[in-house]
Amino acid sequence: MTKPIVALTKGRVEKQFIHFLDDRGFDVAPLLDKGRKLQVETEQFFAFFAKGIDVATYVEHGIADLGIVGEDILLEVQPDVFDLLPLPFGQCRFAVAGEPDSNKPLGKQKIATKYPNITTNYFRKQGKSVDIVKLEGSVELAPLLGLADDIVDIVETGNTLKENGLVVKEEMFSISARCIANRNSLKLKKAILYPFIEAFRLEEVVK
Ligand code: PRP
Ligand code: MG
Repeated sequence: MTKPIVALTKGRVEKQFIHFLDDRGFDVAPLLDKGRKLQVETEQFFAFFAKGIDVATYVEHGIADLGIVGEDILLEVQPDVFDLLPLPFGQCRFAVAGEPDSNKPLGKQKIATKYPNITTNYFRKQGKSVDIVKLEGSVELAPLLGLADDIVDIVETGNTLKENGLVVKEEMFSISARCIANRNSLKLKKAILYPFIEAFRLEEVVK
């Protein structure tokens, strides 16, 4: 029987996922020793490492059976995948943030963000229309340099906001890492995926 193919998000969530698997008795040595290699094989599964947004694409296209990805990506991109379950890491929250004493703009509020869809939907629900400036990172710079009035971004420890003199103006909602699955893989590869998924489905995981 062949092993499941798992797409893993590179970066912060990667280390936490490796610890998570280690705690559950999975073979993680090949993940820890991978160096700059992007694909590895463990005793229980094949894994490859990609950016979060690409993890969703690989799972949607059935190249990976399972994916570990931040909920921010799922909410922003809405890929056609099965959102299986939350994982107990990657917890953070979305917030509107800006300079503490900035005045309300006279016209439309200008928001810089990596997440234009999440931002539009959030303000639309409040009956507000905002102008969005799409950035790819370091969005905290935008209000400081006058590109936007405020930002919408994820806040984990709050250190990035604090060290750049910004404050949370509105709390939006909390997110975590998620395990996603390709829809066909779930049907066709049930036998090889289920033991794997069950290992994740611990009491503290299922909410
Ligand atoms: C993320 C996010 C915030 C920061 C939040 O940025 O966009 O800037 O982390 O974490 P904190 O509250 O613990 O400081 P990241 O470092 O991933 O870089 P990027 O925004 O440039 O992509
Ligand atoms: Mg950032």
